[in-house]
Amino acid sequence: MKRVFSGIQPSGDLHLGNLLGALVNWSKMQEDNDAVYCVVDLHALTLPQEPDVLRKNTVELAQLLIAVGIDPERSTLFVQSQVPQHPQLAWLMECTVSYGELSRMTAFKDKSNRDTTKFVSAGLFTYPALQAADILLYDTDFVPVGDDQRQHVEITRDIAERFNSRYGETFVVPEHVIPEAGARVMDLQKPDRKMSKSEGESPGTVFVLEDPKKIEKKFKRAVTDSESDVRFDIAEKPGVSNLLSILSACTGEAPEDLASNYEQYGPLKTDTAEAVIELLRPIQARFAELQSDPAETQRLLRVGADKAQVVAGEVLARAKRNIGLLA
Ligand code: TRP
Repeated sequence: MKRVFSGIQPSGDLHLGNLLGALVNWSKMQEDNDAVYCVVDLHALTLPQEPDVLRKNTVELAQLLIAVGIDPERSTLFVQSQVPQHPQLAWLMECTVSYGELSRMTAFKDKSNRDTTKFVSAGLFTYPALQAADILLYDTDFVPVGDDQRQHVEITRDIAERFNSRYGETFVVPEHVIPEAGARVMDLQKPDRKMSKSEGESPGTVFVLEDPKKIEKKFKRAVTDSESDVRFDIAEKPGVSNLLSILSACTGEAPEDLASNYEQYGPLKTDTAEAVIELLRPIQARFAELQSDPAETQRLLRVGADKAQVVAGEVLARAKRNIGLLA
């Protein structure tokens, strides 16, 4: 069996783009892979965090992952800070990657340049070294992440290869896989932009835990265009195509086929809203159940961290031995 590893930051308010673009696929990949999924709270620390909010977001995200279908019995689901091998291996990674390589990371450039008055942590700069540790600690074959993470997986491969050539065969060199089934979900108000967690009012973003009535409203108000025919045509009709993509992700039918069922935008919006609400209903119910029993979540995460440490401990020991550290 192949091992897959992926991580997600506890940044709060999971939305439909995260769900259909990534998490549904995470859940599918459990079926024929040995899947390891991690809530990367240490990565969240690279930006300023409110302690109570970080803790709450971390637990909630773990509960959401379970609610979405990540099975903590079958897969390994854990919180990064509960497996100390991550920051330990990260140091070895930091000493294997160069300042120049880290300086070329576009994610760092974007996040550090946005506001020059802002505090830029050293952790934000070394972020990819910790990510490389996450991945390499599990002898990972495949890393399912979006295109925006391509550079981080590339640098992980470079680090693994460099370490192996300097110190002998130590790490499996992982491959990036773009989730095939991953739907591209765009903002309902600005369909040329990916759906994202925006500040303040977010009429274009549908949250996984959002009230069905609000979801219905957001779809009703979704931006379409001044024509009236329903076609799947991303360039000419981004708004309508987005609705078709979302409906397609919920029903499993091709967006082009779905388009032929509609003559007007109204019914397409209604049906898409309904499909999304139905998709979210069991997720919201399971989440509420988990939230009512925090001790059970704690237990599941402990089990996950223990399982993770079995593999991570071995790989870290191998890396330490090969680089010349005492066991
Ligand atoms: N950097 C990833 C993101 O922001 C999160 C992440 C951390 C990750 N470690 C990882 C993803 C390891 C895949 C594998 O989305």
